[in-house]
Amino acid sequence: MKMRELGKMTPEERTTTGAALNRLKDEIDTALRAKKEALADAALNARLESEWLDVTLPGRPQRQGTIHPVSQVMDEVTAIFADMGFAVAEGPQVESDWYNFDALNIAPEHPARQEHDTFFMARAEGDNRPPHVLRTHTSPPVQIRALQERGAPIRVIAPGRVYRMDMDQTHTPMFHQVEGMALGKDISMANLKWVLEEFCRAFFEVDNVELRFRASHFPFTEPSAEVDIRCSWDNGQLKIGEGDAWMEILGSGMMHPKVLAAGGIDPNEYQGFAFGIGIDRLAMLKYGIPDLRAFFESDLRWLRHYGFAALDLPTVFGGLSK
Ligand code: PHE
Repeated sequence: MKMRELGKMTPEERTTTGAALNRLKDEIDTALRAKKEALADAALNARLESEWLDVTLPGRPQRQGTIHPVSQVMDEVTAIFADMGFAVAEGPQVESDWYNFDALNIAPEHPARQEHDTFFMARAEGDNRPPHVLRTHTSPPVQIRALQERGAPIRVIAPGRVYRMDMDQTHTPMFHQVEGMALGKDISMANLKWVLEEFCRAFFEVDNVELRFRASHFPFTEPSAEVDIRCSWDNGQLKIGEGDAWMEILGSGMMHPKVLAAGGIDPNEYQGFAFGIGIDRLAMLKYGIPDLRAFFESDLRWLRHYGFAALDLPTVFGGLSK
């Protein structure tokens, strides 16, 4: 108000009164600012008082999560094969009929289609093409897709989920396999034998593993062999590498020329081996877990008992399982 009266004053009055008014205005501004700061300080102090945290208090015990035995075994298997120069491949879990069967030399009328207890995907009305399937093995991503995408020579494994309609103490509708393949100009059954023996030695962490190659049949390998490992069962306790019992652990063989051709490889130029191992089976054997169904029930007590420490990553030189 006083500022507005300045207009009516003489120039002399205006200089003195104006200066005095400005001083007054500055004083009021300063006082206001000081009060504001004091209020903000007080508010901050009040918060600091009420929200303090004693960082010297000991931590409260926390439940740590664990690594599932299937993940652990997948990591162990991958570490061992990586050490032998195998790359890791992946593929879809919903496969076309061609990738899961035809390309692997399993013709439509072949009994292996029934043996695989396949889950078929629903088809749209009027779609008469063969239905897609939940892959029944990890052979398609390795033996066909990897060949198509990466060509030869090649060394690759594919750990992953597979599906079959089956359910009892040692079978679940979803389980895990790791498929392996090595293809080159002169790869033979002898290489297969060495790789698998080396793998078992490393995986079961025993020096004296003994494998038995039993002639078998798979449409995608010729010749084919199922592989058993020497073991003993004492009071339900399994020991690998000793005793008079044999336990089947995997299927294997030399890749069929038709499979190589389906993967776009000339079978006259390249040859190689393939094998498929049940990961859940390996976990049951190595860690003495009696029932496969419990693997997938998400029971926390089971996970705490059989699980692994999260930071102990398996390596061939650092130790696979701690
Ligand atoms: N795919 C076979 C199975 O699921 C395993 C296998 C893989 C056998 C590669 C031979 C060669 O039973």
